[in-house]
Amino acid sequence: MSLMDLLPKDMPNFRPYKVAPISPVDSLNNSLTKNTALHRLILQQPIQSHLQLEKWYRVNVDVVTEMGILLTPHKLEEEFQQGIRLTCSIYHHNANYQNDEAQLIVEVEPLMKDIWDADTAPVAPWPGFAPKSCHGGFKYRLSTAARSPQSFVPVALPCGHCYLMIQSTSHADSILPIVIGPVHFDQSFPPLLNHTWEKTFQTDSTCSKCAPIDHREDPVNHINIHRKITVKDGCHLLIKERWNCGTPGKLWDSAILMTSLFANAIYKHPDRFVNHRILDLSAGTGYTGIYIAKLYQNHPHPPTVILTDTKEALPLLYENQAINQVNVGINQLMWGKKKHARRVTSSTTKITKFKAFNLTKKTSCPLDIVIASDVLYNAKDMVSLIQTFLDICTYGKTVIYFGYKNRGLKEEELIQFFQQCRVHFHVKLIQPVAPTSQSDNLDSLLLPSQSIPYHSHIPLLIQSGACIYTMTKKEK
Ligand SMILES: C[S@@+](CC[C@H](N)C(=O)[O-])C[C@H]1O[C@@H](n2cnc3c(N)ncnc32)[C@H](O)[C@@H]1O
Repeated sequence: MSLMDLLPKDMPNFRPYKVAPISPVDSLNNSLTKNTALHRLILQQPIQSHLQLEKWYRVNVDVVTEMGILLTPHKLEEEFQQGIRLTCSIYHHNANYQNDEAQLIVEVEPLMKDIWDADTAPVAPWPGFAPKSCHGGFKYRLSTAARSPQSFVPVALPCGHCYLMIQSTSHADSILPIVIGPVHFDQSFPPLLNHTWEKTFQTDSTCSKCAPIDHREDPVNHINIHRKITVKDGCHLLIKERWNCGTPGKLWDSAILMTSLFANAIYKHPDRFVNHRILDLSAGTGYTGIYIAKLYQNHPHPPTVILTDTKEALPLLYENQAINQVNVGINQLMWGKKKHARRVTSSTTKITKFKAFNLTKKTSCPLDIVIASDVLYNAKDMVSLIQTFLDICTYGKTVIYFGYKNRGLKEEELIQFFQQCRVHFHVKLIQPVAPTSQSDNLDSLLLPSQSIPYHSHIPLLIQSGACIYTMTKKEK
């Protein structure tokens, strides 16, 4: 029996997952990098975070897969034969307002080879990556528009910090940009001579519009890595990642696809989720739930958005809630734990601004939507995951949006999972449809329209096997 035989009959165009050819040389690496199409820029080394204006600094970045693995020589040959070109711009994150126009510019230049660089490490003649290399970088300096001491213009940002947004100009659709920071700069001229490597971040409370800055130490990155997402009208999300924290610490392809589904639905019907109760199960960075909450931020009847994950993953959710100043509930929910499941379906308590739920009342409060993005990757968790689906879903009401991308799971394990799900749930694969389609149904995945975050990346995600299913509980 094949996977096709087991899938519900209403999945006519089910696409088998595309698997990259595996060469014997690096089969292990390939098995981990298969189905990878949208790559990430990440910091190779911490950057100095207290900067002097007018001084050149260096940033080293790697291009890696969704899982953080360096690209294989085969991929590099295939996709990056001409190298990768990067640009850098300044971003001043302000969770609620238009990006401030900083009177600050950033200039970039190619790296020069340092004596400590390995002889074999190629250096690109442009800011970015040399041909077929997954290590790259550039030199950059911040300056005011008027550079000479005589015509020095004080920097306009009152808080003295900003972020650096690095993106590829040559591979804009296949490499996710990165936002690093905050970097602090001295606004006086000439700049201070002593500077330190970043350990903790300090914020200047005089800037009332700025989002709070993380004061905690990030032992590996030293400086924070984020993704920037435009929500609407100049309002952006800054989603922090913690690559040293494993699976919850990064924005997965599935979450990008899932968010585009919800963004499309809300774009077409702004009141679609009014007064709904939405759970982002095992939310990781919290991107999808935070995005929905942000879109409804000023709505008189916003949905109640709850983000859950393991205990270890909760601090990142709190950080992303604070950086983006959204009202969401945050709670621990371990798959299979009935007590945890009850907490999200039996509370009527309101969300306190930027605080976790105060779970006191035990009145039944069924969920309308469950977002389960990229939660199936380990066969040993299948039973407890399905148990949680059963515990949090109400017949006739709850719809699970199940985001999936095949990486390590064996085909027979996937078959088994869907077999078990189909005992209790109706399962449907959401079909991608063209943006011109008249469908205004959430259950159709509209291919990118300009207003959708990361719209230019969506075709690649679908091509690499990311997909979304709906599951609704069967009547007993
Ligand atoms: C691949 S990440 C996906 C994160 C996010 N939903 C996304 O799509 O970006 C898997 C998530 O499942 C969570 N997780 C793993 N095991 C879990 C368990 N036993 N109970 C609850 N959550 C778990 C991880 O902490 C992580 O956030």
